[in-house]
Amino acid sequence: MTETAPLAALQARLTDGRGAVGVAGLGYVGLPLAVELARAGFSVTGIDPDTERVRSVGRGESHIEALPAGAVAELVRAGRLRATSEWVDAGALDAIVICVPTPLTPNREPDLSFVRAAGTEVARRLRPGQLVVLESTTYPGTTEEVLLPLLAAGGLRVGQDFALAYSPERVDPGNPHYHVANTPKLVGGVTPTCTALAQALYQKAVTKVVPVSGPRVAETAKLLENVFRNVNIALVNELAMLCDRMGVDVWEVIEAAATKPFGFMRFQPGPGVGGTASPSTRSTWPGSRRSTTSTRGSSRGRPRSTRTCRTSSRRSSRGSSRSEAGTSAAAGCSSSA
Ligand SMILES: NC(=O)c1ccc[n+]([C@@H]2O[C@H](COP(=O)([O-])OP(=O)(O)OC[C@H]3O[C@@H](n4cnc5c(N)ncnc54)[C@H](O)[C@@H]3O)[C@@H](O)[C@H]2O)c1
Repeated sequence: MTETAPLAALQARLTDGRGAVGVAGLGYVGLPLAVELARAGFSVTGIDPDTERVRSVGRGESHIEALPAGAVAELVRAGRLRATSEWVDAGALDAIVICVPTPLTPNREPDLSFVRAAGTEVARRLRPGQLVVLESTTYPGTTEEVLLPLLAAGGLRVGQDFALAYSPERVDPGNPHYHVANTPKLVGGVTPTCTALAQALYQKAVTKVVPVSGPRVAETAKLLENVFRNVNIALVNELAMLCDRMGVDVWEVIEAAATKPFGFMRFQPGPGVGGTASPSTRSTWPGSRRSTTSTRGSSRGRPRSTRTCRTSSRRSSRGSSRSEAGTSAAAGCSSSA
């Protein structure tokens, strides 16, 4: 791995935790990450066009359910975390992590306008010795085909002047066991130097960082994780309806199946998968438009089957109604029922 002087200096700053890190997008993904990076010792600036969100972080508040306000307040008071709507100082940052929304367009195409907007702001101020990481959920190829051309347009060379990597967010809102710090983090850089720099950043804040050979592998791994989740949520919701009709207790069935110690993972019936990165099973599975609404007759206080609704607040352990951004209409409820 050949490292140029600006990237060697960056590596040193990240490794000893002295670096200044920007997090673009202070939402469900960005704010908890900003807190973890600040806890790790970095000086963190959250950048978000939502001025109310910026003000609330500045007051030490948290708009994320799973993130206690005390954690934000402590870091703001200590001067390790700040928030702004302005990009003007971004050139002074060592690393910028982009956590902006990637919703679907009305035609259900990926909407990368937020990624392009943030990438354009970064590109305007890009200087030798900076690391840029994309965390937003997106299709394979985005980092190299969309972000890289924007960043390289000014003549700086990736892997030599600046570094670029993709690292998917794996947050599972409401999960009491896994959070940013203890969830293994994939990193795939455009070059091996880029991977090493992204690894240096995250390993200060996350217990385990898993390098892969490039952004496309990391992007595709995220896709596999989401598809796996979507398919299994849809499957168990279909099973719930089937069991309902057969008069079989789906919960007992799941518990019975889960005694198998290999080759099975428990998914529970719920309101379904949702969010911008997970096109709903409802829209992609024509048969699923057949709406069945039996939610009554719960077993052990749990619904026997699921229903299609936009207001349900029920959630299963895997089938979060807010996972994957939830900024799109699909987040409300996209049950396969
Ligand atoms: N929420 C989840 O559970 C989850 C899990 C894994 C991955 N993701 C992915 O992470 C990404 C972010 O999701 P989220 O849930 O944090 O979204 P969010 O809507 O909660 O937050 C996104 C934030 O980005 C800000 N933003 C918009 N344009 C910006 C710009 N140009 N520059 C800076 N900030 C900008 C918005 O104002 C908002 O505050 C999406 O791609 C999503 O699919 C989300």
